[in-house]
Amino acid sequence: MRIEPAAAIVGHVAVPGDKSISHRAVLLGALGEGETRVRGFGRSADTEATVRAMRALGVDIDDVADDELLIAGVGLRGLQATGGPVDCANAGTLIRLLAGILAGQDGRFELTGDESLRARPMERIAEPLRRMGARVETADGHAPVVVEGSTALHGIEYALPVASAQVKSAVLLAGLNATGATTVVEPAPTRDHTELMLEAAGVRVRRRPASVTIEPPAALRLGEVDVPGDFSSAAPLLAAAALVPGSDVTVHGLGLNPRRTGLLDVLERMGARVAVFNRRRSAGEAVGDVQVEHAQLVATEIRADEVPLLVDELPLVALLGCQAHGETVVRGAAELRVKESDRIEAVTDGLQASGARIHSREDGWTVTGVPTRLRGGRVDARGDHRIAMLGAVAGLASREGVEVEGAGTVAVSFPGFYDLLDSLVRR
Ligand code: S3P
Repeated sequence: MRIEPAAAIVGHVAVPGDKSISHRAVLLGALGEGETRVRGFGRSADTEATVRAMRALGVDIDDVADDELLIAGVGLRGLQATGGPVDCANAGTLIRLLAGILAGQDGRFELTGDESLRARPMERIAEPLRRMGARVETADGHAPVVVEGSTALHGIEYALPVASAQVKSAVLLAGLNATGATTVVEPAPTRDHTELMLEAAGVRVRRRPASVTIEPPAALRLGEVDVPGDFSSAAPLLAAAALVPGSDVTVHGLGLNPRRTGLLDVLERMGARVAVFNRRRSAGEAVGDVQVEHAQLVATEIRADEVPLLVDELPLVALLGCQAHGETVVRGAAELRVKESDRIEAVTDGLQASGARIHSREDGWTVTGVPTRLRGGRVDARGDHRIAMLGAVAGLASREGVEVEGAGTVAVSFPGFYDLLDSLVRR
């Protein structure tokens, strides 16, 4: 797909429901007592994989509307092995959180996924789940992951070797069916949607600055979940507004969990004009409307402890750096090498091929910015939705446009991305 330069990005939009929260609502709704209604469900290839996986494990899920589900909970130990492998497609969140849930179910379960998912590290969840008493096998550290659940799991205190919300969540979800408390200690704060939703479902959750503890509940009761707009889906629109002169974009009803919105702090530091309106709370999550206006950008540095707060937005930070006066440096982001693609190399290659002065580091990038539009060129998405979106934003902000190779992969998280973007573009 060819993305032509934009004269400006202007308007008001809303984005689909948060992917992290949508996955969790389906998983926890399935383990609940009675019905859970999910409103604002962010339907995408990833979250559809979660719906299909839970159906395969015996859960009744009614597609009430494109953005609404009704889930008939089977209770904390009610999932059933179907015999065949459960296909987690491209979804890292699904395979890791589900492995945690299955660790406490009676049965043998096999979890697999597409080529990208089968290349991602799985020992990081297998290891703590074994410590809790489950039998977990990986194929040389990768999927397929075979979980032989145990009805005699015990709670542990686990210090995460990497800052990962998926690993934290896998351990906490296994803790739902364990005896005694389960504690996860984090090297840096990561997104806390699991903790917030468990609390909303009636679980005793104790939170300290560097750790979280849950007590196994008798039952989960979610009732209703209103999913806010996905900050990571809004991020490309906000970055485009910051980059293209004359732009002014407002995204309404956006999830503003402070462990997700690191990009807003970075945009402000870089000199973009950022405003947040209508701050409110919904089911424990912060929500609001965000406006970003273009301004001449200046370079910034991203430190390791900041990385989890904008982990999925770091490719966009590299692009912002291309147009920011000075040298932008991203450090402590080696985790990007094990996302849906090696995002450090995918970003470096794509932006270099579009005229940028960017170099990879082992754990991030160094970008020398020039305060003019990028030339443009070609970005290969490498099967990674966030890289395809990066290519699209680079195209809008460029002089000559960008050819995005594998553009369709945006459907993994945001099927309507190009249409929504197009509705904001002035040529
Ligand atoms: C996610 C956690 C992050 C993030 C991913 C979604 C989640 O992954 O990159 O897109 O929903 O918990 P890690 O936990 O591996 O950092």
